[in-house]
Amino acid sequence: MTPELPMVVPADDLPEKVRIHEVGPRDGLQNEKSTVPTEVKAEFVHRLAGAGLTTIEATSFVHPKWVPQLADAEALFPALRDLGGVHLPVLVPNERGLDRALALGASRVAVFASATESFAKANLNRTVAESLAMFEPVVARAKQSGAHVRGYLSMCFGDPWEGAVPVPQVVRAARSLMDLGCDELSLGDTIGVATPGHVTALLAELNAAGVPTDRVGVHFHDTYGQALANTLAALRHGVTTVDASAGGLGGCPYAKSATGNLATEDLVWMLHGLGIETGVDLGRLSATSAWMAGQLGRPSPSRTVRALTHQEQ
Ligand code: HMG
Ligand code: MG
Repeated sequence: MTPELPMVVPADDLPEKVRIHEVGPRDGLQNEKSTVPTEVKAEFVHRLAGAGLTTIEATSFVHPKWVPQLADAEALFPALRDLGGVHLPVLVPNERGLDRALALGASRVAVFASATESFAKANLNRTVAESLAMFEPVVARAKQSGAHVRGYLSMCFGDPWEGAVPVPQVVRAARSLMDLGCDELSLGDTIGVATPGHVTALLAELNAAGVPTDRVGVHFHDTYGQALANTLAALRHGVTTVDASAGGLGGCPYAKSATGNLATEDLVWMLHGLGIETGVDLGRLSATSAWMAGQLGRPSPSRTVRALTHQEQ
């Protein structure tokens, strides 16, 4: 660890502070071949909180056969009860998932829609319209119970079956999701194909369609090494919520070619270099990802984790 780096050199037109929405325990671990033991997951979340992350997506209340890696949600979530002050959102695809989450006291939930028909079918066994209909009572009941609701929208920039996804198609789906009553929208580049101009164009079109930037977060997978550049484009547009996964873990089991998310450490390195506040202790975070890499039996894909913890390239 080199505490004096990165050197802080602020740039114009960037936010002072960014809220990192950590998705490692959910997006990261849902895609692992082996199922991580519940105690290890609980320790992972505790260590992430200890490193200063305040929003940590903990798990999913989906069908256990669809995502067996997260089938222990009922055991894991109560093991995180001591983390007062840390938001622990969970994924809920339907009312059954919402019931399970609310029964355990979850106060932040996320539904997850798709901008394309192919992925809606693969991920939710529904058309886009059917999945939005499935989410309608989920969002309404979650809001009634006082929960914060995030709406994910996947395949915002490209789809492994359909190729390029036209911006107006994404905007239509995003608008429908927000019209259900979601508090926040997360734009998913599920297979990591976005480039910065595309990000700016989508954000501008969303604004034109009445979705304000302060309700939008970005969720970049890093397949083509574009996630940080895309994040910078989003920050310049005014986005202040950025999803990332500790150590760069992640992917989607229902989308071929989805690789890990933007690594939280790589993001924090850039943000701190720009003088943008995150509340995260980069040394503790990297140590956590190095520990998790040991649990998973392979090195972290994050360049920053490797550099800071001297792991072999
Ligand atoms: P289905 O097979 O159509 O389910 O799956 P169904 O509604 O027909 O129900 C069948 C049975 O499953 C019923 O039981 C239900 O009770 C049960 P039966 O009556 O036959 O005994 N069931 C459940 N059990 C427990 N928990 C539940 C649940 N729901 C139904 N929640 C379903 C539809 C939505 C359930 C399924 O497709 C599913 O679970 N999909 C989840 C897939 C997933 O988690 N993907 C990864 C997350 S998305 C992602 O990674 C992208 C993101 O990161 C953003 C980005 O990168 O773009 C967010
Ligand atoms: Mg994802």
